[in-house]
Amino acid sequence: MAALMPINLWFCPNEDLAPGIAATLAAYWLDEHEREIAGRFLFERDRRQYLVAHALVRRVLALETGIPEAEAVIWRSSRGRPYLQTPEGGLPRGGDGLDFNLSHAHAYNLLGVARSCRIGVDVERLDRGEQQGFEVIIETFTEGEREWIGRAAAGRPRDRRVLRLWTLKESYAKARGLGLSLAFDSFSFTLAEDRGVIEFRPPADDLAGRWRFLELEPVPEVVASVAVEVVEVEAADPPAVHLRHGFPWGRATPRRLTLEAPLR
Ligand SMILES: CC(C)(COP(=O)(O)OP(=O)(O)OC[C@H]1O[C@@H](n2cnc3c(N)ncnc32)[C@H](O)[C@@H]1OP(=O)(O)O)[C@@H](O)C(=O)NCCC(=O)NCCS
Repeated sequence: MAALMPINLWFCPNEDLAPGIAATLAAYWLDEHEREIAGRFLFERDRRQYLVAHALVRRVLALETGIPEAEAVIWRSSRGRPYLQTPEGGLPRGGDGLDFNLSHAHAYNLLGVARSCRIGVDVERLDRGEQQGFEVIIETFTEGEREWIGRAAAGRPRDRRVLRLWTLKESYAKARGLGLSLAFDSFSFTLAEDRGVIEFRPPADDLAGRWRFLELEPVPEVVASVAVEVVEVEAADPPAVHLRHGFPWGRATPRRLTLEAPLR
């Protein structure tokens, strides 16, 4: 069996793309739909977040496929999930089955690209000040997950547990294209003390064995998760994961990570 293409992850803080440069790239690269959304933001901070995230998507898709940034056709499902349209004749750099997913929040962006499998990503910031809203988030979890959260000391240790579970649930729901329409208490995670999924119990319509998860803290105070559905390979042979930091102007050497199967 041929070696699988690695899963590529890009973690890009907004500050890695100066506002003027982000605006220039967006003016050339973004499509009408993206430019229209960018024009709607009330706060410049939110517009900047959107421009950096979408310049990142188009740059990375160009590197991955050979389709120039402004020429990639991105369509969205009825639930809003973006997909790259494969041009007639296939992707210029070959390969097929490309999937990507984006998360952008609180001045950080995470983009995941996979081949022949679905991917979902989510990034959140622990230090969210007054607007945390963690109590509302916790109410959406299963009873077992709420108990696990309650056993941690109040403050950072508890918040970290909340966001580890939240980003894992979001990454899974996003990989499936369902987003928040999937009830977050219809599936559950049992997590290791520091990092790693011990057990994943999927919703009734899915199989646990198809999924691999990765937890990351790309920089301090930032929690991120990746969910990958691996259907075409042996359980023991998941694809490699390459993580790169910053806006991809050049050839950054990736950090190599492992996509572990849940222990149980
Ligand atoms: C997807 C969703 C979970 C996003 O969560 P979030 O934590 O606020 O945002 P994130 O930054 O992590 O992710 C946002 C990105 O996920 C992607 N996305 C949007 N909808 C998605 C979906 N259904 N599945 C996977 N990814 C999705 C997009 O790239 C989006 O960014 P963009 O709109 O700027 O392109 C949430 O918005 C959702 O559930 N959307 C679905 C809404 C829906 O069902 N709509 C029905 C018709 S209107």
